[in-house]
Amino acid sequence: IIAVHLYGQCADIESLEKIAAGIPIVEDTAQAFGAKFIKGKYSGRFAGTVGAFGTFSFFPTKNLGALGDGGAISSTNADFLAKAKSIASHGQRKKYEHHVLGLNSRLDPIQAAALAVKLKFLPEALSAKALISEQYLAAFQPLKQVVVPETASFSNHTYHQFTLTIPSEKRDGFAEYMREEGISTMVYYPIPLHKQKAYAHFEPRTSLAISEKLSRSVISIPVHEALAPNDILAIKDAITKYFS
Ligand SMILES: Cc1ncc(COP(=O)(O)O)c(C=O)c1O
Repeated sequence: IIAVHLYGQCADIESLEKIAAGIPIVEDTAQAFGAKFIKGKYSGRFAGTVGAFGTFSFFPTKNLGALGDGGAISSTNADFLAKAKSIASHGQRKKYEHHVLGLNSRLDPIQAAALAVKLKFLPEALSAKALISEQYLAAFQPLKQVVVPETASFSNHTYHQFTLTIPSEKRDGFAEYMREEGISTMVYYPIPLHKQKAYAHFEPRTSLAISEKLSRSVISIPVHEALAPNDILAIKDAITKYFS
């Protein structure tokens, strides 16, 4: 089972465990580097450290972004880690001894060096994102057509994304308006997983009405730690004007 820690907060791993019946849970932590469980049996633990594996992305837009592509895997199981390490290096256990088919999926040294420096600034970056998000929440909560992000009771929120839910018939117009205002927006994600061609052979096992509805009504706004106070003000004003 792959649990996705979406948008910057922890997925409900404890509830998943209850229905998992022992099936290992892999935590996709691409969007939640630095997020923590704050309640329940994993209280105090970081996202990506409680499942069979945690997987991380260091794509430049992520909470901890490299200069290009990069990623990591965490596990408390040394055998899993040895296997993952081998797969990431062409299936080798020793140089030029290939035990399984692998990939070239090593973190290159330039990315590792950049990440080692940026890691030191992660707490500051996450605090800056939290402050921006607080301002957004205060500004957008009163807007009737806008649903602001909720933080789960068992997690903190690192705001990898600040995602609004708005009426689906307004989304395209709102995105266009924001473009004209010089403010970027993104839709994560316009096509839900079960509607992707790659997974077409699974259909029509399930109707995922909530995913389908959200894919038509979510829109993410800038929440980068480098936003200047004037940028934040402009974003708040533009959105408030549109929905007032
Ligand atoms: C939830 C989630 N999982 C996985 C990935 C893939 O990460 P990468 O492109 O670094 O492999 C991303 C990146 O966008 C993501 O957001």
